Amino acid sequence: MRVYFDNAATTPVDGEVLKAMYEVMENQYGNPSSIHAHGREARTVIEKARKSIAGLLHASPAEFFFTSGGTEADNMAIRSRLADHGIRHAITSPIEHHAVLHTLEALDKQGIIHLSYVGVDGKGNIDLLHLAELLRTNERSFVSLMHANNELGTITDIDAVGDLCEQHNAIFHCDTVQTMGHFSHDLSKLKVHFLVCAAHKLHGPKGVGFLYINHKIRINPMIYGGSQERNMRGGTENVYGIAGLAKALEIAYGRMDEHREHIQGLKTYMMGKLVDAVPGIAFNGETDPGKSLYTVLNVSFPPTEIADMLLFSLDIAGISASGGSACSSGTDIGSHVLNGIKASPDRPSVRFSFSKYNTKEEVDFVVGKIREMLVRG
Ligand SMILES: Cc1ncc(COP(=O)(O)O)c(C=O)c1O
Repeated sequence: MRVYFDNAATTPVDGEVLKAMYEVMENQYGNPSSIHAHGREARTVIEKARKSIAGLLHASPAEFFFTSGGTEADNMAIRSRLADHGIRHAITSPIEHHAVLHTLEALDKQGIIHLSYVGVDGKGNIDLLHLAELLRTNERSFVSLMHANNELGTITDIDAVGDLCEQHNAIFHCDTVQTMGHFSHDLSKLKVHFLVCAAHKLHGPKGVGFLYINHKIRINPMIYGGSQERNMRGGTENVYGIAGLAKALEIAYGRMDEHREHIQGLKTYMMGKLVDAVPGIAFNGETDPGKSLYTVLNVSFPPTEIADMLLFSLDIAGISASGGSACSSGTDIGSHVLNGIKASPDRPSVRFSFSKYNTKEEVDFVVGKIREMLVRG
């Protein structure tokens, strides 16, 4: 048996998405910028996808810009807005994804902005009182806070952050890479200026995503070139990727309640089994279903001699999981997120993350292997 519990890193592509992409790859191969019939057909694929996504999120199609994924969308929001529009102060948290943190830190180093970090507690919750103070005591700010933390699953109350940003005339960028397709975003209500999607986190293809830019906001392009994406992002569009992204989001929204119930069931079941199987086990981040993304379970194991080998041993046992952020898995650099919540360095942590394709039998298999390694081993 081989179990894939690393769905926060990336997800398997849904068969229906594959079919939709294959159809476009085979038939709508024109360049969407060409004005002839082949080009117009490809253009139609893109605009249909944009309209479908906008409909699901209750926004206008003109507010969506296709990108190569989450990292580019985060960079586009942060760099284009901050460097070109005179905002000199940014606020983020120490546990954001590196797509956000490294981008802001580079701007800070270049002297383009001054960066402040809002406090987080031991479970990864944002200190909203501290955020309010930072907004009150600084000039107009750009706030970048993610919806659900990719390592911990802890969810930030982005309605409350949006309200605070509105009160202080701040710009709010929210990295929603982990919640898009798993959580119903209603952009007619949410007070957010930028929001981000990467298709590969919701059973779509890799290398495609979007940036939502609220119509009240103007930015300059980050990638200059042709007039694609209404002059905001030069380069021939990833037509079949965009078709796959829209299909993935349609499937996710169509069956979200059913998938949530199934995946939350697996997570709760695994927590219970682990607590019974391994004395001294604990969890990093929030685990309450109202405060934690149902796809992510970050397990804090008691100190063990095989700490350094845990992920490797899991891999050998047929289990794909991740220690720390997806993007830094495979390296032995400590997790900035676990450092940020002051997790004990003596306790090895493993992130298990689930999808609609996972089963209880897989949970039983994984917990059994962990028990063999840590308890009987
Ligand atoms: C929260 C978050 N933001 C951004 C990214 C980057 O997305 P992409 O891999 O599409 O560039 C990831 C990917 O792990 C993520 O989890």
